[in-house]
Amino acid sequence: MNRESWIKDELAALQAQHLRRELSPLPAAGGRIEIAGRPWLNFASNDYLDLSQHPLVIEAARKALADYGAGATASRLVTGTLDLHEQLEQKLAEHKGYPAALVFGSGYLANAGIIASLACEGDLILSDKLAHASIIDAARLSGAKLVRFQHNDANHLQTLTKKSADFRRCIVVTESVFSMDGDLAPLAVISKIVREIGAIFIVDEAHATGVFGPHGSGRVRDLKIETAVNVSMFTLSKGLGGYGGGVACSQLLRDWFINKARSFIYTTALPPAVIAAAIAAVDLLGEHPEWGAELLRRADRFRAALKSRGLDTLNSASQIVPVLIGDNEKAMQVAKRLREKQIIVAAIRPPTVPAGTARLRLSLTLAHSDADIEHAAIAIAEAVR
Ligand SMILES: Cc1ncc(COP(=O)(O)O)c(C=O)c1O
Repeated sequence: MNRESWIKDELAALQAQHLRRELSPLPAAGGRIEIAGRPWLNFASNDYLDLSQHPLVIEAARKALADYGAGATASRLVTGTLDLHEQLEQKLAEHKGYPAALVFGSGYLANAGIIASLACEGDLILSDKLAHASIIDAARLSGAKLVRFQHNDANHLQTLTKKSADFRRCIVVTESVFSMDGDLAPLAVISKIVREIGAIFIVDEAHATGVFGPHGSGRVRDLKIETAVNVSMFTLSKGLGGYGGGVACSQLLRDWFINKARSFIYTTALPPAVIAAAIAAVDLLGEHPEWGAELLRRADRFRAALKSRGLDTLNSASQIVPVLIGDNEKAMQVAKRLREKQIIVAAIRPPTVPAGTARLRLSLTLAHSDADIEHAAIAIAEAVR
């Protein structure tokens, strides 16, 4: 008997529902790429500021590679902490408006580490219903009871907080800019509710970093609620164009994560070239306060161009612009049609989004000009029809 035959059957079942996932390698990264000598528009990258391609970011990585070598060679607590790691953490703390910061191997690992080290059995985690898989997985890993409030519904959260008295401790967690809908969490209102019950508040700024707030520091800083948000989580792999994740927090929480966050402790430190690239990216944000606002202006234009052609962009208010399709197969077909026009879009299907809400997820980057936006909106509307 073939011990793997069940896997074949389950993959075939996914295929039948148009839910099978496949890899499609590209010869280049970024929002605008060249394939076989032809220009392509890529609306599926998270390289919002086009920093993955910035000469100063690339040069910083190249120099660190030459100076330090290819790897950090050990975990952070052994000999993997290089001066570069601490430099980056100081810069990120300042950038985010917090006393301290700590970098993790990725955003996924950051969420895993912080949530699972702050909660355990007997605790309650209240999370937005559409929160990213890394938050849900981390909550499950922690052993705490996870209850999800309706998306962006502060009243529902308020109702659920009544349960918190039955638990030892409570954590509230939400995204700041939602990864698949591009809408914004009501952070100021939520922060007041969280404060009333004395819970820990974690905000995932993965998609806000680099785009929202002064110098792209995120929505927490923009709303001046740093003291109400205990942990402002971010990633280095979207707006900053590189790789890695992290948190901005108090010195006390940083010490806690260094001691207790297993996804920080039991893994090799990020390589020096990656850290140097992130340092250069944060420095560039400091020099270009206009980038985020410019990207959001283009996103407004993009939404207007799509809506005027009858497309539904849900409640998007950021550089992430969904186009609701509904049916899984149709979403795949539309993405395929667009590829025939040298436009790459992600067709997002369940379980990443709720059943019946398959969509195109378009992410705008500074590599996309106004003309590209107009061209893409026309092509998308045609492909949907
Ligand atoms: C909201 C959110 N949080 C966390 C992550 C994980 O970040 P990373 O890609 O750096 O692991 C992502 C991206 O996939 C995300 O969209």
